[in-house]
Amino acid sequence: MLEMNDIQAGYGRTLVLHGVTLPSAKTVAVLGHNGAGKSTLLRVAIGLIKPRSGKVLFDGSDITSLAPNKRIARGMAYVPQGQQSFTQLTTMENLQLVADGRKHGKALIDEQLARFPALEKFATRKAGLLSGGQRQQLAIARALITEPKMLILDEPTEGIQPTIVAEIEHTVMQLASEGLSVLLVEQHIGFALEAADKYLVLASGFASSTGDGGASAAEGVRAAMAI
Ligand SMILES: Nc1ncnc2c1ncn2[C@@H]1O[C@H](COP(=O)(O)OP(=O)(O)OP(=O)(O)O)[C@@H](O)[C@H]1O
Ligand SMILES: [Mg+2]
Repeated sequence: MLEMNDIQAGYGRTLVLHGVTLPSAKTVAVLGHNGAGKSTLLRVAIGLIKPRSGKVLFDGSDITSLAPNKRIARGMAYVPQGQQSFTQLTTMENLQLVADGRKHGKALIDEQLARFPALEKFATRKAGLLSGGQRQQLAIARALITEPKMLILDEPTEGIQPTIVAEIEHTVMQLASEGLSVLLVEQHIGFALEAADKYLVLASGFASSTGDGGASAAEGVRAAMAI
């Protein structure tokens, strides 16, 4: 499980996160308006940004200074905002890039093709020609091929057509129920709270509200976000 305590972080001289502590739970949703610092918090979690102060722990060990690739080797996976894949490579080549050198690489790819039928259908299509939703599924599939213990997802349903939003939501819920730990940034409050054991609302880089997930939390979250 991931712990983040009293994180101060930013870019250059600009401080974005002012002492943020993540609620401790298997699945956590991070909510907040544009620019609140959600993606920055995830970048600190995976190690792309080193915090100025505060600690990051994974399964009880201090990983605050650990490089992203070492975090991935320990079982963390990160899907950044914006459906990123290698657009000039096919769906299959994108998956092979991650699977190459892994013990059961082919089986890991097959598992993801079964999970995401659209990827199987468009296995030979260049990723740049997939729809945004399919590209997001490809990005999640790539992350899952690393067999993570924890998945960090930055707005997986942003800018995606509604039919695929439902599929991606279903996948995230299923992964959580399979026992994968999830740190999720989401604009869809209803889904985020349904998926999460705990939530954190960020407002201008401060933790403005935190509590248990579940449908009953929505009213409190919307109130916290209206401030
Ligand atoms: N690479 C960067 N360099 C400098 N400032 C940045 C950088 N990335 C983000 N910021 C700034 O940090 C603040 C928080 O940005 P961040 O991307 O974490 O917000 P967010 O909550 O993820 O927003 P959104 O909902 O739009 O994705 C913003 O003021 C943003 O302009
Ligand atoms: Mg963001």
